[in-house]
Amino acid sequence: MDIMIAVQDVCASGQWLTAIILSLCCFLPSCLPAGQTEDYSSVENVVSRQGDTVLLRCYLLDGISKGAWLNRPMSIVSNIADKHEYSLQIQRVDVSDDGQYTCSIQSERNPRPKLLNLIVKVPPKIYDISSDITVNEGSNVSLICTASGKPEPAISWRHITPLAKKYDSGEHLNITGISRDQAGDYECSALNDIASPDTKIVKVTVNFAPTIHDVKNNEVGLGRTALLRCEVFAMPVPTFEWFKGEKRIIKGQGIDIKSLTSRSILTVTNTTEDRYGNYTCIATNKLGTANASLTLLPPNTAPYGSTGNAHVLLACRYLVLALSSFISIY
Ligand SMILES: *[C@@H]1O[C@H](CO)[C@@H](O)[C@H](O)[C@H]1NC(C)=O
Ligand SMILES: *[C@@H]1O[C@H](CO)[C@@H](O)[C@H](O)[C@H]1NC(C)=O
Ligand SMILES: *[C@@H]1O[C@H](CO)[C@@H](O)[C@H](O)[C@H]1NC(C)=O
Ligand SMILES: *[C@@H]1O[C@H](CO)[C@@H](O)[C@H](O)[C@H]1NC(C)=O
Ligand SMILES: *[C@@H]1O[C@H](CO)[C@@H](O)[C@H](O)[C@H]1NC(C)=O
Repeated sequence: MDIMIAVQDVCASGQWLTAIILSLCCFLPSCLPAGQTEDYSSVENVVSRQGDTVLLRCYLLDGISKGAWLNRPMSIVSNIADKHEYSLQIQRVDVSDDGQYTCSIQSERNPRPKLLNLIVKVPPKIYDISSDITVNEGSNVSLICTASGKPEPAISWRHITPLAKKYDSGEHLNITGISRDQAGDYECSALNDIASPDTKIVKVTVNFAPTIHDVKNNEVGLGRTALLRCEVFAMPVPTFEWFKGEKRIIKGQGIDIKSLTSRSILTVTNTTEDRYGNYTCIATNKLGTANASLTLLPPNTAPYGSTGNAHVLLACRYLVLALSSFISIY
């Protein structure tokens, strides 16, 4: 029946030779062109990426069989060069297009459906992640990172340090009793097999009370410039204060105080007698305070072991020795 309609169509379009051949086909079984046969027995998987244009291939068995796509109506590709092409094109494919498609070839002799399974994959996308946080040292920290994608992406965390410590994969990153070394950036990475991973960063700030880890005494001659240095570990950045005995020292009158994030330097220009003595450096932040003593000494009063001074003493002795031997000659 279909073939007869097709013959009329073909006749109308002036393709007489085809019409005759087709007419013969009605009487001679199996004279259909054999070239276009496909394997219609199995389901063909078509993998695509969300947003792409997808082509679900299907070919008619001959010039006259009719095709129909079961499922949703979509634009059928009509290929001028190949009249047999009856492929289905889907633009900007989405997850909702995922599923099985059937290309039904309606031919009296060979009515067979072609099954295609469209798999729409979606690149990973992190849609929710913990905000940057500030905690006190010793706290328990729990970070979360959730991502969408198809197939469902694998989530992993790593601490961005030179060692780049990796954590067990999963949405949660739990740190029990966080230490100051564990402060910094944590990168969540969501990965599936369709695209490069999506990554996002959470900054973890760990606050802790100041500790003074290094001080530098100084010995200096009258009129010279002296430096006293106080180095701390602290978070947040501490404020510094300097005392000489009980007296708070402020900038000015030959004294300068420069405080950076992790150190404070007190400079005495033009050292006078009353500048010698004990100083205290105090570093304070909201979690606590620390102090350390420093001493500004006149020259040659440093305890033994100060190498710089030992060289000077030795040099002096040689000079005295040399001078005395020079004098004794005359
Ligand atoms: C942190 O976690 C540990 C172990 O899970 C628990 O024993 C401790 O009480 C927690 N500390 C705080 C401050 O919640
Ligand atoms: C991490 O903590 C969250 C909630 O704070 C919890 O649901 C999750 O099970 C924890 N994960 C691990 C691996 O301990
Ligand atoms: C250093 O201080 C002394 C005594 O106060 C003063 O006489 C001298 O001019 C000062 N020198 C400089 C370079 O400021
Ligand atoms: C400075 O401190 C030391 C000990 O840190 C102490 O022995 C010395 O007497 C102090 N000097 C003054 C002038 O307070
Ligand atoms: C310095 O620290 C000690 C404890 O480490 C404390 O007893 C002392 O009072 C502190 N001094 C000042 C001036 O804060």
